[in-house]
Amino acid sequence: MSSDDVRSFDTLADLSVEVAQQIVTLAAEAMARRGRFTIALAGGQTPRALYQCLASPAVRDRINWARVHVFFGDERYVPHDDPRSNVRMARETLLGHVPCPPDQIHPMPTSTFSANADEAAMEYERTLRDFFGSGPLVFDLVLLGLGTDGHTASLFPHSPALREETSQVVAVTANADPPVRLTLTLPPLIGALRIFVMAAGPDKQTALEHVLAPDADVDLYPAAALRAADGRVTWWVARL
Ligand code: 6PG
Repeated sequence: MSSDDVRSFDTLADLSVEVAQQIVTLAAEAMARRGRFTIALAGGQTPRALYQCLASPAVRDRINWARVHVFFGDERYVPHDDPRSNVRMARETLLGHVPCPPDQIHPMPTSTFSANADEAAMEYERTLRDFFGSGPLVFDLVLLGLGTDGHTASLFPHSPALREETSQVVAVTANADPPVRLTLTLPPLIGALRIFVMAAGPDKQTALEHVLAPDADVDLYPAAALRAADGRVTWWVARL
C-alpha cells in the first residue's frame, strides 16, 4: 500500500473550498467521459461547509447539474424532515440551491411507508441496481466523514456490516443518535472511482491516526478499510 493521500488544511472552510474545486474538476471529467457524474453524499456536520460552497453561485454555475446524479452513503432512519436527517441537511445546504433534476436525487427511504429498516435497505439497493445495473456499483465520487471512533458512513466499530460482501446497503443499529441507520457497505464505498474522507478538528485527528496506522484494525477503526482503495482515496484533514 503506497503512502496515504492526506491533504491538511488549517480550517474546515479552507478544506471545503479546495474539495469543492476538486469536485468541479471530477464532475467535468466524468461528464466528458461518461456523460454523467454520480456522487454519494456524506452526512453529519462536517460536509455542511462543502455543500454550501458547492451551492455558492461561483461554484454552482461551474457544474452541469443536469448531468449530476446524487445518492447517499448513509442515512439516519428518521423522517426526511427530522433535524437529524442527512437528506434534510443536504437539501438545506446544497440540493435546495442547485438545479439538479429531482428525479436524479436519490435519498435513502426512511419514510413511514417503509415497513422497517431492513426493507428500506433492500429498497435502496433496488434503486442502486436500477441505476447502475447488475455489476459492481461504481460511483464517480463517494464523500465520507469520519467519526471520533473511526466509523465512516454508518459502519461502526465491531459492526457485522463490516463483513457484508453481498448486500450493497444494509440497516444497522448503532450506539448513536438515532440508533437505526441505513448505510452503504464497504464494497460500493471502496469500489468508487474516487473517495474523499473529510475530518475536521482535533478529536478527529486522533481517530485518523488510528485509521492510517500501518496495522490499523478495521473492526476497531472501520474507516481504515477505505485504504484498500489505494490511490483512489484522499483524506482531507482540517486542524480546526
Ligand atoms: C452520519 C455520517 C457519519 C459522519 C461522522 C462524522 O450520518 O453522521 O455518515 O459517518 O460522517 O459521524 O460526523 P460529523 O461530520 O458530524 O463530525
